Amino acid sequence: MKSRLYSPSMATISLPRLRVRVEALARFGALPGGGVTRSAWSRPHEEARAWLLDEMRTAGLEPWVDAAGNVFGGLGMRELDAARPAVLTGSHIDTVPEGGILDGALGVLAGLEALHVMKETGAAHTRPLAVAAWSDEEGRYGSLFGSRAFCGKLEVARLPEMAAADGERLVDAMAGAGFDALRAPEAQAPAGAVASYVELHIEQGPRLEEAGVPIGVVEAIVGVRRTRVIFIGQADHAGTTPMERRRDGFLAAAEFALKARDLVVKRGSGRSVTNFGVVHVHPGVSNIVPARGELVHEMREPDPAVLDRLARECAALARRVAKRRQVQVEFRPLSATLPAPCAPRVQAIIEAAAGELGLGTQRMHSAAGHDAQNLAAITDAGMIFIPSKGGRSHRVDEMSDWDAIERGANVLLRTLQALAN
Ligand code: HGY
Ligand code: MN
Ligand code: MN
Repeated sequence: MKSRLYSPSMATISLPRLRVRVEALARFGALPGGGVTRSAWSRPHEEARAWLLDEMRTAGLEPWVDAAGNVFGGLGMRELDAARPAVLTGSHIDTVPEGGILDGALGVLAGLEALHVMKETGAAHTRPLAVAAWSDEEGRYGSLFGSRAFCGKLEVARLPEMAAADGERLVDAMAGAGFDALRAPEAQAPAGAVASYVELHIEQGPRLEEAGVPIGVVEAIVGVRRTRVIFIGQADHAGTTPMERRRDGFLAAAEFALKARDLVVKRGSGRSVTNFGVVHVHPGVSNIVPARGELVHEMREPDPAVLDRLARECAALARRVAKRRQVQVEFRPLSATLPAPCAPRVQAIIEAAAGELGLGTQRMHSAAGHDAQNLAAITDAGMIFIPSKGGRSHRVDEMSDWDAIERGANVLLRTLQALAN
């Protein structure tokens, strides 16, 4: 698609300025051996928020923060207005524990850089634009929190009980950062206030690097389903209780995890994945047979029907394992994001922008969850991926080449300019 808006002389981003900002943001929650821990609402996160607001002002943008803690920097706007639908970009500044410096940060800072270039070059735009940093994308207290609030998808009744795996409640974490969690639903955007959304993100996997393709155009984003599965047996003396009489909650959980992993690989779509990243044993001392084994069972899949089927089959498996081992099993759903298709219109504009820059593209699904899957429910949404070195992410050595970062940011700039005119 050739549009009169693309011209080779069009401005490009400043990689030095973007790099300075990436390296500055990386200092908030920096770990001694490299990488970063910057959980939502934590002190490093709140210091990063203040820093980001300052950078938005320096870039000549109009900053504001909504009731869910989402940070915005506007170009030609200072709030959402259904009378003037806006083009949004962005990502998140919170990280996983011991994470990398690009997951989320790249999309926020490349978006900031793109709007900074548009501001300083006086680039034409008939629609207002804003860059967003969505709260708690990593879901320490509940998956994709800020963009769910913005898209009106928060389960308000659950707000008081939402908590991190270590028990810290969302209400307390937000209060510590000066926010009232119960007011988060006020962040919902007015209907029709968003004309389109595009997010730049590292792929966080090996596909683009192995294919030697510089730009990924995301077609769909996986649904992520998280359920706490609790196997309840009986505490007993670890020495005196005969082996055949033990009702061990942990061993039931362990057998379920191994068999559920095989079930998802065998019975899934080939793109279905599963993980058990949180395991608790109670009472959790070496000389007591575990009464309880608790797992957070996470499954991801781009097709909602496959995800639902796998959830049913895994629940049936858990019940069979529990029966055979004479323990009880309980299921506590934690979160379930819907798989989201990206808008063909936005995909086409990303491809045209990459083409203008002489960059090859590859269409692909996102095996990671992203805020874009919430925005896809209220507007035309798309994502641009750049290769991750070694496919590494959610690790301290997560990284992409700086020229890959520059390419991605320039594709983002041109995509935003096309969407805004
Ligand atoms: O977990 C994810 O898929 C994303 O990185 N939050
Ligand atoms: Mn991310
Ligand atoms: Mn992540």
